[in-house]
Amino acid sequence: MRTDRIAVFVGSLRKESFNRKMAKALMALAPESLEPAIVEIGGLPLYNQDYDDEGKPLPPWTAFREQVKSFDGTLFITPEYNRSVPAVLKNAIDVGSRPYGKSVWDGKPGAVMSISPGAIGGFGANHHLRQSLVFLNVPVMQQPEAYVGNAANLFDENGNLANDSIRGFAAKFMQAFAAWVETNRAGRTQ
Ligand SMILES: Cc1cc2nc3c(=O)[nH]c(=O)nc-3n(C[C@H](O)[C@H](O)[C@H](O)COP(=O)(O)O)c2cc1C
Repeated sequence: MRTDRIAVFVGSLRKESFNRKMAKALMALAPESLEPAIVEIGGLPLYNQDYDDEGKPLPPWTAFREQVKSFDGTLFITPEYNRSVPAVLKNAIDVGSRPYGKSVWDGKPGAVMSISPGAIGGFGANHHLRQSLVFLNVPVMQQPEAYVGNAANLFDENGNLANDSIRGFAAKFMQAFAAWVETNRAGRTQ
């Protein structure tokens, strides 16, 4: 069976991030056909087009672009900041999207989960992120939608998912994502 390597991006740098806990839980629940790994984005300098235009991209950008290119798919786990995508994640998307015509996102199947202590589960961030991903030609899984609210109640003291309901949903999400990657694998012709 082919294994698809999945780049996992977490839109929070916080030590006790609920999103990072969820990313780890999802990785542990991934079906065998997926091999997920977190790609760290906190050290990426803010994007400035001048460096690409001058042919001198910053080394952390180049390393990030090469790293993302080596994956078969992308999984975005993000909080909502002011009803939108946290800057650290938007910066990573912008860095990967340039130079023009060389986007590392192009055609790689992806999925989005948003997590918030609030009741509406980061819906705004989830859909702002989808807006960018549509432009970047990322086939983004549509169902199940994943707006996960009340995050403070989802994890036990060890950071594991605390109840069967969220565990079941997380497993279902990863199974659907594995099928989505299989169907939308880059280069697939039918
Ligand atoms: C700058 C900032 C803006 C925020 N805006 C929102 C928001 O629009 N909606 C929301 O549900 N939570 C918002 N929050 C609360 C975050 O959801 C909360 O801090 C969450 O724990 C962040 O995710 P993390 O646990 O993975 O770090 C905001 C937090 C910060 C720091």
